[in-house]
Amino acid sequence: MPTVAFYDTKPYDKPSFEKYGEESGVSFRFFDAKLNGDTAELARGCDAVCVFVNDTVDAAVIDTLAAAGVKLVALRSAGYNNVDVRHAYGRIHVVHVPAYSPYAVAEHAMALLLTSVRRIHKAYIRTRDFNFSLNGLTGFDLHGKCVGVIGTGKIGRVFIDICRGFGMRVIAYDPYPAPDSGIDYVDLDTLFAQSDVISLHCPLTEQSRHVIDAAAVEKMKKGVVLLNTSRGGLIDDEALLEGIKSRKIGAACLDVYDEEADVFFEDRSGHILDDDMLSRLISMPNVIVTSHQAFLTEEALDNIAQTTVDSIRTFFEGGVCEHELCYRCGRMEDCKKERTRRCF
Ligand code: NAI
Repeated sequence: MPTVAFYDTKPYDKPSFEKYGEESGVSFRFFDAKLNGDTAELARGCDAVCVFVNDTVDAAVIDTLAAAGVKLVALRSAGYNNVDVRHAYGRIHVVHVPAYSPYAVAEHAMALLLTSVRRIHKAYIRTRDFNFSLNGLTGFDLHGKCVGVIGTGKIGRVFIDICRGFGMRVIAYDPYPAPDSGIDYVDLDTLFAQSDVISLHCPLTEQSRHVIDAAAVEKMKKGVVLLNTSRGGLIDDEALLEGIKSRKIGAACLDVYDEEADVFFEDRSGHILDDDMLSRLISMPNVIVTSHQAFLTEEALDNIAQTTVDSIRTFFEGGVCEHELCYRCGRMEDCKKERTRRCF
């Protein structure tokens, strides 16, 4: 029975992982700590580690884990920008959960957008205080507005369908356009120039880091609403702040933040927040921040646990892991998995 060191455990993680673990003969050791250079040794004696988006799986951590006998890193997330997949190659196998509920994330993006443009966050606080004034709550119709979607994978496409349901005009940018999707693809400059709402649904890579920078903000329509439910590093926060201060950006809805690792998922109320940028952004009346919550639905948690446990069981039975990934992913011309069905 493989034993798995489960890092960054939260109360909502445990029930589904315990259920599927019991059914599949996979046992978990749950740790509250995040995985990093200081905590990697906790995995000694375990066969695998299970990690989330703010665990650090860099070269040094990979070496420690491999020396401790760990054979597999199982990400319970889709994104894997926190793993040095190049260094992991040949040392430790990596699996992830490519899709667990694109609806969870896309619906959260729309929830943020509606909250922002209809000022629901302000109305909620007012009426709880028996303040029934409407002053300052004027919103705008989404119907007829143009939304620019950056990244048209699983989540981006669900979000596009939702926007179309609202009667919005959709344009999109993706270096790998989906054939026969009926999506109106444009270049980034056109997307910035035409969009009333911009929503980010691409992974964080060397190419996409700071796709929203000062030059991009400069090209945007005045009053644009920016949604980021993907990864914080897609946005240059200085440029975002300047865009908000200059009134170019009308509103920002952020489920992710570049420096979220030490803050998000934790109760910091009653503490002084050391991150000046995050404090400043949260203090803005037209910025809504949720703490990497978009994935958090019952359906998604269940799918994440089932897929992760299934990958772990398959791996230790010597089978083929459909969701194994390595630095070659996306480069099908030399993808070994296509030939031998294991990345190495
Ligand atoms: P996916 O792999 O299905 O789609 C990603 C799309 O982005 C692909 O079509 C790809 O061609 C495109 N892309 C790659 N590089 C790009 C670039 N430089 N510019 C524009 N497009 C680019 O991924 P999926 O499932 O749709 O997830 C998207 C992202 O959402 C993930 O990478 C992850 O960062 C984020 N995510 C956030 C969650 C949350 O709770 N906030 C939960 C799950 C995912």
